Amino acid sequence: MKTPSLSHLNSKDYERVYEPCEDTFLLLDALEADSALIATQHPTLCLEVGSGSGCVSAFVGFLWKHAHFLATDINPYATEATLKTGLLNGVGIDAINSKFAQALLPRLHHAVDLLIFNPPYVVTPSSEVGSSGIAAAWAGGIDGREVLDAFLPSVDLLLSDSGLFYLVTVKENRTTEIMQLMKSHYGLFSKVR
Ligand SMILES: C[S@@+](CC[C@H](N)C(=O)[O-])C[C@H]1O[C@@H](n2cnc3c(N)ncnc32)[C@H](O)[C@@H]1O
Repeated sequence: MKTPSLSHLNSKDYERVYEPCEDTFLLLDALEADSALIATQHPTLCLEVGSGSGCVSAFVGFLWKHAHFLATDINPYATEATLKTGLLNGVGIDAINSKFAQALLPRLHHAVDLLIFNPPYVVTPSSEVGSSGIAAAWAGGIDGREVLDAFLPSVDLLLSDSGLFYLVTVKENRTTEIMQLMKSHYGLFSKVR
């Protein structure tokens, strides 16, 4: 599957919006590798939280043409970039400037078939967490978990009965602990790709 065109973005834009990086491309690889599994769930509503450039949402749009695509980002420049990436690649993405999915709750309760988040996971001082600028792309606070942990309670609320959640983590985030937490608190099973 081809990578979406981001030709409308230049180095100046990437001072304000996260430039797709190794983590982005690993996420694309995981989604493509799981495309048969995801297709069995007949995804009709997909939500990417923290869409950045919109690369991932547009890619998902290539894979499941008939689904509806929503994307949020706390950074307004990212929202604008995602909208343009959708247009450029022929994928209709409703991009919304919002913290997590707050602007869409409670309407999206148990409605999302495919939920995706490549969060700010880098270990940083807590004081760096909470901006809506480019630092929001990486600043994860203690253990790189502060933003991630704030979102996890929404996962169960958002997912449809057969919904799937794709999350990027690094080892400093203690991935196994996140998986155990999702099971013990919400009865959600996870696996590492
Ligand atoms: C690591 S970047 C990933 C961008 C894109 N999804 C990708 O994979 O290339 C994390 C993104 O999450 C956004 N973000 C951070 N905190 C957020 C929050 N609380 N709600 C929504 N978006 C957030 C950032 O602005 C940034 O665009």
